[in-house]
Amino acid sequence: MKRIIYISRLTNPLSIKEMEQIGITSSQNNRALNITGLLVYFERLFFQIIEGDDEKVDHLFLKIGQDPRHQDIIRLKTDYDVDQRLFPAWSMKTINLDSNVDELVRPIKILLQAVTESHTIIEQYTQPTILKILNNGVNPLGVIPIRVEKIILFSDIVSYSAISEKSTIEDVFLILNTYFEICSRIILDKGGEVNKLLGDGLMAYFDVEQADDSIQACLDIMQELRNLRNSASAHSPLRLLHSGFGLAQGTVIEGNMGSNFKTDYTVIGDAVNIASRLEGLTREVNRSLVLSESLKQSTKSPWVFVSLGKYSLKGKEKNMEVYSIEHDLVTSLKDI
Ligand SMILES: Cc1cc2nc3c(=O)[nH]c(=O)nc-3n(C[C@H](O)[C@H](O)[C@H](O)COP(=O)(O)O)c2cc1C
Repeated sequence: MKRIIYISRLTNPLSIKEMEQIGITSSQNNRALNITGLLVYFERLFFQIIEGDDEKVDHLFLKIGQDPRHQDIIRLKTDYDVDQRLFPAWSMKTINLDSNVDELVRPIKILLQAVTESHTIIEQYTQPTILKILNNGVNPLGVIPIRVEKIILFSDIVSYSAISEKSTIEDVFLILNTYFEICSRIILDKGGEVNKLLGDGLMAYFDVEQADDSIQACLDIMQELRNLRNSASAHSPLRLLHSGFGLAQGTVIEGNMGSNFKTDYTVIGDAVNIASRLEGLTREVNRSLVLSESLKQSTKSPWVFVSLGKYSLKGKEKNMEVYSIEHDLVTSLKDI
């Protein structure tokens, strides 16, 4: 058996009657599925525990997750191999803490609110991969490193020193955040994941099937930066905001790196070094996007590739042919 514990937030206020109806429906449905548990609600929060057969619990949790009456679902814990139910007699005992005047209830409410708040904050600082691992009920610290094929993206701001010279430190902070916001949103939207922010750049990765998405993500970022430059006022440093991109595909090791004091869940390997080097090459070859042969071979869309010649890349004995694409957004970096 399995047990899932989560908290969530009510989307819009519901009447007591509507809340009670959730409890009644849950109880009826769960009885038929031999699922037991507890649903606590107060103010705008739900706290629920569901337990039963693995598949039934997973299926129910998926269904509950799609219910528009609540949002911001945070899975606190998944227990596997449960051999004893916590609430064997309750098909879904529903408790309205707001109607309870017991003095013990207040600290419980405060505790649940604090847990919700701290989890919401921590999620902002946590990589999606780690959240996924946690949501599967696994402790990420115990995850064994794996060999995987990934597409690695490196990007950084081309004109960073010029921007820094022309701006106050507060403006630089704002510009960096604007840049990271645009990059992260688009990379996420295209199915990638930002792994690290690196000064004025970042490292992200995509699954191997996403070669076209990774290129499209770079183009979408370039488009948004172009819009931003064009709409910025005449003396704004945003008019200088350009980015270079390096994309490479290869085998990497994905796993925990670091110490007991600071751990990163990251990837290491040739493809990471190559993507970083390709991003660095953008200045030399005067193109805002440079990509590896392996990535080119994984694409399916009809991109117009151009060879930029052979370059020596760190860790590679032979010079490697590198490419870019013909596209209005892939610009020269010469006069930036
Ligand atoms: C916070 C919350 C908890 C819920 N818990 C359960 C539950 O334990 N069991 C259940 O069948 N439905 C639960 N629901 C309702 C489901 O999302 C869904 O509306 C319901 O299962 C549909 O039932 P029906 O197929 O009988 O119409 C819950 C909904 C919310 C908002």
